[in-house]
Amino acid sequence: MELKEFLSYRKAEIMTYLKQYFVKRSVTPKILSDSINHSLFSKGKAIRPILCLTAYETCGGVYTDILPQASAIELIHTYSLIHDDLPAMDDDDLRRGRPTNHKVYGEAVAILAGDALLTEAFYMYTSSFTVNGGLLIEALKELSSAAGLDGMVAGQVMDIMSESKTPDIETLKYIHTNKTAALLRASVMTGAILSGIKGSELYAMKIYGENIGMTFQIVDDILDITATTEELGKPKGSDLEKNKMTYPSLYGLVHSKKLAKDHIETAIASIESFREKAHWLREIANYLLKRGA
Ligand code: IPE
Ligand code: IPE
Ligand code: MG
Ligand code: MG
Ligand code: MG
Repeated sequence: MELKEFLSYRKAEIMTYLKQYFVKRSVTPKILSDSINHSLFSKGKAIRPILCLTAYETCGGVYTDILPQASAIELIHTYSLIHDDLPAMDDDDLRRGRPTNHKVYGEAVAILAGDALLTEAFYMYTSSFTVNGGLLIEALKELSSAAGLDGMVAGQVMDIMSESKTPDIETLKYIHTNKTAALLRASVMTGAILSGIKGSELYAMKIYGENIGMTFQIVDDILDITATTEELGKPKGSDLEKNKMTYPSLYGLVHSKKLAKDHIETAIASIESFREKAHWLREIANYLLKRGA
């Protein structure tokens, strides 16, 4: 199977799970349901849940066992995008090829849809599970810290506070490690934790997750300059407009690409001991780099 096929097949399974879940959940008021559907069921890559399922499988699990836990990560990610686009944050009008949530439903409903997605993620995570309860709690600790104070929220605050400031490597690393790499690391790590692996194998997954996460945001910064709005499904040049602290703003495009490549090499080297079981994790790592080529 080609990677493209693998990704679209996994994404379809995740989206089917999410659709069925929200049919059963029957969300009211209707505007809240519409607002959630608008952002969740659009053109996202679903790369975080795919990574979670793939890490679980690499560690010996049957991926369908953790569809609710992997899919819950997509709820957290989607909330982060809705809030990231708000006028008080990046003030963007296009996301996943559609008008941003607040443009369609207004800021109040967009904020609340984000809140709902974040809290529902934990309801989804714990409502139906086949793995050992202790492992589930361990995975939840990793996910909640990475999405909040030890990760994404902290990184988003630093991102906003650093607009129009002279870029420096320390701040930039802090922003990227936290706002983006933390949730990608947690996607991989929670899959690994739920499988029951420990010790050096779990550590290898952590290094893999952190490094593909750094590449992911460096490439996102590069694409803001080099891709088209149509390709991105979000506005090209958003970072330049807001004077964001990005890798290209400090290092330029060529050296940023080199750094993105270095992180992928580290990621791939770290999972060497999984040998052929890590085939898809290696393919995904290379794909995340190639996006920015
Ligand atoms: C965009 O994430 C936000 C970042 C952390 C860079 P994705 O590029 O994964 O967005 P979707 O989910 O595919 O729309
Ligand atoms: C987003 O960073 C990080 C999040 C946690 C959502 P960006 O602001 O660069 O993401 P895009 O480019 O708007 O998707
Ligand atoms: Mg942002
Ligand atoms: Mg943004
Ligand atoms: Mg960006």
